[in-house]
Amino acid sequence: MALFDTDTITIESLKKLLQEQIPVKIVDVRSQENFDQWHIPGSELLPVNSALQETDDNVFLDMGFTSGLPVVVVCQEGFLSRKATEQLRDLDIEAYSLEGGIKHWTRVWNTAEMLLEDTKITQIRRAGKGCLSYLIINNGEAAVIDAAVEPQTFIDLASENQAQIKYVLDTHIHADHFSRSKQLAEQTGAKLLLPAQNLVQYKFTPIQDDDQITIGKAVLKAIHTPGHTDESLSYLLNNQILFSGDLLFLNGVGRPDLKSTDEIARQKTAKLYRSLQKILNLPEDTLVLPGHYHQPVAFDGKLIGKTLQYLKEHLPLLYLEEKAFINEILTDMPDTPPNYEQIVDLNISGDAENHDLVDLEAGENRCNSQK
Ligand SMILES: [Fe+2]
Repeated sequence: MALFDTDTITIESLKKLLQEQIPVKIVDVRSQENFDQWHIPGSELLPVNSALQETDDNVFLDMGFTSGLPVVVVCQEGFLSRKATEQLRDLDIEAYSLEGGIKHWTRVWNTAEMLLEDTKITQIRRAGKGCLSYLIINNGEAAVIDAAVEPQTFIDLASENQAQIKYVLDTHIHADHFSRSKQLAEQTGAKLLLPAQNLVQYKFTPIQDDDQITIGKAVLKAIHTPGHTDESLSYLLNNQILFSGDLLFLNGVGRPDLKSTDEIARQKTAKLYRSLQKILNLPEDTLVLPGHYHQPVAFDGKLIGKTLQYLKEHLPLLYLEEKAFINEILTDMPDTPPNYEQIVDLNISGDAENHDLVDLEAGENRCNSQK
């Protein structure tokens, strides 16, 4: 029996299939270049992009394509995948075109959880974009860090855990996605805590180095870690878990060059170096939970995080002297994130009402200073 009685599939349906581990074959019909930039985890690139655009012949017949599983076809915006789906169906293959294509996939999220004694931490991951948000719950109280998906997601997750969101925090002013923190605070009555700075044009409570908040019986402490941006904060939970924002990732460190001249980028890289030294002095078993992941996030429920000890063992960058570190970071920087100047402006104004966030936020994550 067919999975669906239509020949298209929504991102929500695909998310459900992946979460429930229902076997499907996801094929991507975009160009190699687009696929290399970002794709759905587990998907396979079929080299049919040009042929699909240039001819009306059945390109799958030519390549002898077969599949024992239902096939989900992905393209950029959901148009070419329709043509491919039709051709696959002509070969009696149960195929579905992903509505809205990879562009819509940018909104899909999944979760992973962990317990730190009596504190529950849920990592909410935008599967395509790699943005990581966190919900921390202790004793019926909750805090959200870096709300990167729709506010209702956090409201629902908190209520499933009988918790009330008391604080909403950002680690910094983001350049790759619109922060949903202001909206979330407004909708829940939670206190909006942003790193102290005078850029943001709406009301918030500033939080700075050494400030502490309590979530039930848990304590979250701010550590000023400038570099990626001047205001950047990391947050340390119960002296055991570090929410490192865009300072430290599992495969590198944050980029210091956005919205900066060469000279300012150099100064920010020096700050980044010193911030890292501060963090590297924490106990080695501190668990680092970053603000982004560098790959499409799998639907595996596995938390994205590593101990400081692991990161020290795997990131040689962390052992460089300051001068070598600065040179290493500033040499061969990746392309800037798509639409980043506009996204920063939206985060400063706090209002994205007349903007198409799907368009603005589409694309891979490029917060990392390494390619
Ligand atoms: Fe960032």
